[in-house]
This record gives sequence, C-alpha cells and structure tokens, in this order.
Amino acid sequence: MEIIIQPDSQQASQIAARIVAKIVKEKPDAVLGFATGNTPLQLYKNLARMHREEGLDFGRVTTFNLDEYVGIPPVHPSSLHSYMWAHLFSQINIPRERINIPDSLATDIPALCRQYEQAIRSAGGIDAQVLGIGTNGHLGFNEPSSSLYSRTRIKTLTEETRLNNAAAFGGHDNVPLHVITMGLGTILDSRLCLLMAFGKKKAKAIALSAEGPVTAAVPGTVLQLHPRAIIILDKEAASELKMADYYTWVYEHKPSWQKY
Ligand code: F6R
Repeated sequence: MEIIIQPDSQQASQIAARIVAKIVKEKPDAVLGFATGNTPLQLYKNLARMHREEGLDFGRVTTFNLDEYVGIPPVHPSSLHSYMWAHLFSQINIPRERINIPDSLATDIPALCRQYEQAIRSAGGIDAQVLGIGTNGHLGFNEPSSSLYSRTRIKTLTEETRLNNAAAFGGHDNVPLHVITMGLGTILDSRLCLLMAFGKKKAKAIALSAEGPVTAAVPGTVLQLHPRAIIILDKEAASELKMADYYTWVYEHKPSWQKY
C-alpha cells in the first residue's frame, strides 16, 4: 500500500486526477471503476477540467460504477446514475454505451450481478478503481462482515450507512435498504485501487484499514491484500495513523520517475 498524505482534500484530489489522467493517456481504451459520494467530487471536477482545457480524451474509455440503490429509478435525483451524470459523464466525451452502472430496476438481481461481473471480464478487467470509504470501513457498499472474496451481489445497508446518506434522500427513512455492489473480490481484481478519504470522521476507518489486522469486520483492510493500492488522504483522515510520518517521508523521497 502506498499512503499519500496531503494538507487538504483539494491537493489530494489533484494527485488522484493526475494518476487517473496518466492511465487514460497511456491507455486510451482504459477501463475505469468509479465511486460516488462526497469524496470523489473534486477528482471528477478535475477530470472534467482536464477534458475541457487539456483535451483529456475519454472517447474510448469504459467505466464501471461500484454500486447502485435497488428500486431507485436511474432518473431519480438521488440515484447513483444521476450523480455520475451530474458530476462527470455529462462533462466528458465518454460514449453512453461505454458506461456501466448496475441496473437498479433489474427484476432478476442475481442474473444482473452475474452479467455485471461478465461485462467487467469482457472489457478486460478494471485498470483503476476509484474508492471512498465508509465511516464503518465499507468499500463500495460492502458493509462489515462482507466476504473478502465477495463478487457483485445485493447487500443490505447498515443503519450507520443509511444515516450517512440521509441528506441525499431527504431523511434516513427514505434511504433504500438494499443496494447492488461490486464485491470485495471484484475490487481486488482491479489492477490499481485508488482510495481517497477526507476529514476527521474517516480517521478511524483509515487507521484500521491501513494498519489493523485484515478482517471482514473492516472491509477496507482488504486493500492490504492488493498488489497496488494507493490511499490518498488529507491531514484529518490521516490523523490516527501510527506511521503517518513514515508515509510522508517515503512520499517525499520517491524517485523522480515514480512521482505523480
Ligand atoms: C459509493 C461508495 C461508498 C462511498 C463511501 C464514502 O459509490 O462506494 O463506499 O465511497 O460511503 O462516501 P462519502 O464519500 O460520501 O463519504
């Protein structure tokens, strides 16, 4: 794991954007995995700006989103479809048919999940998966106790996650109970995992995920098993890491060819 600590979320998101942009420039038909929520908003803003001002080309890129709420129509303002169109897809030149988000209205959910996994495989696997983390350590919507080898499936949200997402639905009671999410095994198959976390309320989940024992009780710990996981944090999210000074020292002393 590589842990990068930045003074604020803006600088952290700029590094994340440079990493994603480099992948797209080196491999124009790259397959990107995207997350939703507050954390990647500045990353998406940066990618949209790079497309507008620097010609970053998404014309051959394919995307797979991590998750979607079950039963919420794609056009619903709180759906993760709507989020992605509002914050990224409407602002870059990605062809609609290259965008993949789990179908929230699927009648046969197990079949849909199998098709989603197959679609990822057929696209050649995910080159870079963008991730946020829940206050309870979830990745995607893999809540605590998710199998570390799980695949795309239906999950039931914890009350903690429903409370954290209440604002988007105008109240906790309106947050759906069920979601379709890539599994932790699906995420582990990505060639690069790019996790961002900002703010004091993520500090515990980050410390447990990066420095605690690998356990299904903290799904973020699965990244310790990944050959290339980059974790980009602001100071607050890094504040409970025991080895924070060491991570900063390593980052400052990276060989120049390895810098982002
Ligand atoms: C959303 C997702 C979730 C979020 C996590 C953090 O697609 O996969 O794991 O990344 O709940 O959410 P924010 O960024 O809103 O704190």
